[in-house]
Amino acid sequence: TTVALLFGGRSGEHGISCVTAGGILGAIDRERFDVVAVGITPEGRWVQASDDPADWTLVSGQAPTVGDDGPEVLLPSTRHRPGEPITLRTVDASGRVVPLADVDVVLPLLHGPYGEDGTLQGMLELLDVPYVGSGVLASASCMDKAATKQALRAAGLPCAPGIVVREDHWAQEADAVLAHLEKHHALPWFVKPARAGSSLGVSKVTRPEELEHAMKTAFAEDPKVLVEEGVTGREVECGVLGPRDGGEVRTTVPGEVRIGEDLAFYDYEAKYFGKGTVEIDVPAALPDAALEEVREVAARAFTALGLEGLARVDVFVTEAGEVVVNEVNTMPGFTPYSMFPVLWRNMGVEYTALITDLLEQALA
Ligand code: DAL
Ligand code: MG
Repeated sequence: TTVALLFGGRSGEHGISCVTAGGILGAIDRERFDVVAVGITPEGRWVQASDDPADWTLVSGQAPTVGDDGPEVLLPSTRHRPGEPITLRTVDASGRVVPLADVDVVLPLLHGPYGEDGTLQGMLELLDVPYVGSGVLASASCMDKAATKQALRAAGLPCAPGIVVREDHWAQEADAVLAHLEKHHALPWFVKPARAGSSLGVSKVTRPEELEHAMKTAFAEDPKVLVEEGVTGREVECGVLGPRDGGEVRTTVPGEVRIGEDLAFYDYEAKYFGKGTVEIDVPAALPDAALEEVREVAARAFTALGLEGLARVDVFVTEAGEVVVNEVNTMPGFTPYSMFPVLWRNMGVEYTALITDLLEQALA
């Protein structure tokens, strides 16, 4: 069975995707799967990439990048043979188009827009090739935090109160937006690009004067921005696996992210570059009833959003024991030390077995 590992991509999480791929390249069962590593450059060019895990690690605080120098990878233009592999082609040194690999299944290890947002999934549907993870609609609605919240609320699952602000509206009516927020939403506010990941562009606003700068930071990632009330509670994450056909959804015992007083919140630098004090507890040190409630909410969110394959559901557990969903990641960070595989290891599913499981599910 040949697996195409897709990584990098056009989003701000390009480097994180490469590190995720490095983890998978080091752990995937090579006796069982042939691997073809396909990098997507930040400009969106598909190239043959190294399949050596050592090339895709975080080195001295720097995330790796897919270079533009690899031979181009060409996709089939049309697809009329369901059930058969798709042929990827490449260009050899003399400029001739030659076959690269017959691919049975795609593992799209992309985070963020143009990868985790349904665009790539739509392309894979058109090519008629099996792939790991959620389909077009679920990917798209989980990439957009406003859409995610609408779907979750419709399913009766609580989310943080807040508003959506578009860049053109902000440009014309900043004062009115601020007045509305001050009247209806308690500080602190979290300002988030609707469609970004890894906390890119996210700020915590504790004083109204800080809003303008926070909005600018968020608009740099996305012209659609959410301003939410901060939820006071424990930050808890739950791993979910579920098949394509809507069968049994499996959840992990959740883990907790605990940050020190030196951090305002669990931001990009804290997530990947060791900024501040971060402790990860797996399992989370919460009462059994709270752990169960989180699992139940995560499973309900998975079903309500129509997710497939895998997801990590991030929630807050408030003092009163309420579980408030923060966000859902359809391709969670997947390095060996990322929360998602660690949560599954705690359930007795090792990293290599987890990858095999996902690929087999996609092929089934
Ligand atoms: N968006 C990052 C990769 C995560 O959720 O883990
Ligand atoms: Mg995320």
